[in-house]
Amino acid sequence: MKKLNIGIVGTGFIAGILAPAIQSSKNARLAAVSSRTLAKAEDFVANYPGAVAVEGADRLIARDDIDAIYIATPTAAKEDVASRALADGKHVLIEKPLYSAESFKRLSAVARENGLVLMDATHLVHHPRTAAMRQRFAELIGTPRSLQTMFYFPFSDRENIRFDPTDEPMGAVGDMAWYAMRAVVEYLAPETLEDIKVFAERDTKPGAVIRATGVLKFDGDKTATFDVGYTAGAAVMDLTVAGTSGILTQDDFVLDWQSGFGFDNPDIPTGFIHRSGMATRTDLTFIETPTRKSQHGLMIENFARLILDGNAAEREAWLEATSRTQAFLDAIWREIQSQG
Ligand SMILES: NC(=O)c1ccc[n+]([C@@H]2O[C@H](COP(=O)([O-])OP(=O)(O)OC[C@H]3O[C@@H](n4cnc5c(N)ncnc54)[C@H](OP(=O)(O)O)[C@@H]3O)[C@@H](O)[C@H]2O)c1
Repeated sequence: MKKLNIGIVGTGFIAGILAPAIQSSKNARLAAVSSRTLAKAEDFVANYPGAVAVEGADRLIARDDIDAIYIATPTAAKEDVASRALADGKHVLIEKPLYSAESFKRLSAVARENGLVLMDATHLVHHPRTAAMRQRFAELIGTPRSLQTMFYFPFSDRENIRFDPTDEPMGAVGDMAWYAMRAVVEYLAPETLEDIKVFAERDTKPGAVIRATGVLKFDGDKTATFDVGYTAGAAVMDLTVAGTSGILTQDDFVLDWQSGFGFDNPDIPTGFIHRSGMATRTDLTFIETPTRKSQHGLMIENFARLILDGNAAEREAWLEATSRTQAFLDAIWREIQSQG
């Protein structure tokens, strides 16, 4: 089988998570890594035999032995790198969030024009649990109408890009409400946003948003609430989808405890909980959704498959999901900005 040659732009935290997943993929290989500083790229590739160290994204993009670029830079730098990669005929896997829906629209236009794949790097949508839950909605909960998410992890490193509005303009909203909005897209699938209210807390020093809570009202009486941030002193990844005849919940919706990065607990099965009627805690049913590899490993495989064998409709579906997620995120951000 042909393997897709992937080059990574950036040598930071998430690049270090994805590199081994690329290297061990059945249909992709890590061909090169670029850094703004050659020595950092050299250090990074030392762990990946066969991968070349390159100075600067431009030199990486220009290489003939690269089919696709994984962009693992801060959000402020993403469109610039992605637009140059797409213009040069390279497929792109881009980290979430995007700078804005407008930014993603410009990138999608170039991807379509050049017949290239453009996919965002949200891991959870590649776990078989996401599709399994959607497929069982009608049987287990009727029509999904209300979605509630809570995503916190303790984080206070003010030197990190998350606390620098120049690098990550939306702070915790871009970092974490992204997943809340992706869950809205995957599980509620609304057409239009009709109303929104958001409360945000900023860090006193750099002004970055470090916590946000909000409620969104969509067409068809669908509603979503989200609560995200770095400030609760514990990790929580709760999701509840309430339908017309039952409720489904997950307690690890962003990174499954079993094999999502940051966790490695083979004995904690991944799945979702079903309840209906006047059930107590002891009546709940856990529905397991096993996976043969981590959700970020599956993301690499799916990205490569989309390039090697995918059709236009599939490529369009990925663009659409990103575009909708970012549009809801932008609405949250506009609401926060309107409050000064
Ligand atoms: N999908 C996920 O699960 C997930 C998880 C974590 C983070 N993320 C997202 O990934 C992005 C990066 O996060 P991170 O935690 O990996 O950050 P990070 O550790 O700071 O890494 C970012 C890397 O990008 C490069 N870089 C920094 N500033 C740049 C600039 N102005 N122009 C070009 N390159 C620049 C740097 O590499 P060099 O110095 O080598 O150039 C840096 O190491 C964020 O947007 C974040 O939201 C996604």
